[in-house]
Amino acid sequence: MSANQITVKVARKRREALDISSYELVPVEAGDLPAFEPGAHIDVHLPNGLIRQYSLCGTPHQENRYRIAVLRDAKSRGGSQAIHDLVNEGDILRISPPRNLFKLFDGKQENLLLAGGIGVTPLLSMAYHLHKKGCQFELHYFARSKSRVAFLDEIRMGELAKNVVFHLDDEPVVDVRSVRALLESAPPDAHVYTCGPMGFLDHVLKSTQDLGWPDHRVHYESFSAAGPVEGDSFEVRIQSTGQSIVVGPKETVVQAVARIGVDIPVSCEQGICGTCLTKVVDGVPAHKDMYLTDAEHAMNNQFTPCCSRSFSPVLVLDL
Ligand code: FES
Repeated sequence: MSANQITVKVARKRREALDISSYELVPVEAGDLPAFEPGAHIDVHLPNGLIRQYSLCGTPHQENRYRIAVLRDAKSRGGSQAIHDLVNEGDILRISPPRNLFKLFDGKQENLLLAGGIGVTPLLSMAYHLHKKGCQFELHYFARSKSRVAFLDEIRMGELAKNVVFHLDDEPVVDVRSVRALLESAPPDAHVYTCGPMGFLDHVLKSTQDLGWPDHRVHYESFSAAGPVEGDSFEVRIQSTGQSIVVGPKETVVQAVARIGVDIPVSCEQGICGTCLTKVVDGVPAHKDMYLTDAEHAMNNQFTPCCSRSFSPVLVLDL
């Protein structure tokens, strides 16, 4: 086991909504779990060998206990099915320490949290944090139906109740404002934080662009890479050995180089976690990830071979 991994026990598994279960994780050994910031996630090593990233959705002030919530995804590549079907109370799991790629700016301005479905998970920990700090915020939780809302009672009956508005297709409308209207009516220095399925995220981000929100006030986290991994073939060269391999239209660079014995560590395989980050010595990568910033993409000196491709016919990698 890597020194960087933590062994935890599933202290509680709870059905939170249709196809959504939460898992509370406590340390197996004496000592505390590392503290985490709102928006952070952990890697969870699943019983079927997959590693998946899940946002911590409890309060950052709750001691020695992490909580995650997972939607059973019919299009799952094995992660969400595995955790639902194979992980139960009392089981032992290995996890990574928390990492945060979705940080709160400083919370001092008005904060607009826009959640689409299970995208509520990182925003819930932000909401608890902002509430405890006495900061201004509203969490708008969009979902298809009441049956699909995770933590409904906890939110409606708890400390966050006054700051949360539900937008549910099967309930009387409480707040008729659309995403666009919420963005339009936000104070000029407000920050927006959003997470949810790609369609929801696209809609929020397009609305911020249309309304002229500057990038530094728009924060988001995605569940999947920005685009399909398929594309034209290109050649990858391994700088240390001079080996080269053609990456086919439907395979990733990680899969292609594995055929010549080069093993690139992966985790999410969706351009989210950065585990596979690899230096580019020559060539122009076609970035498909959500991990690097726009400025880092523009430098073209590193890329995520689990999903990104190449604009140039040859990509030379520092491997
Ligand atoms: S494995 Fe997560 S970004 Fe490539």
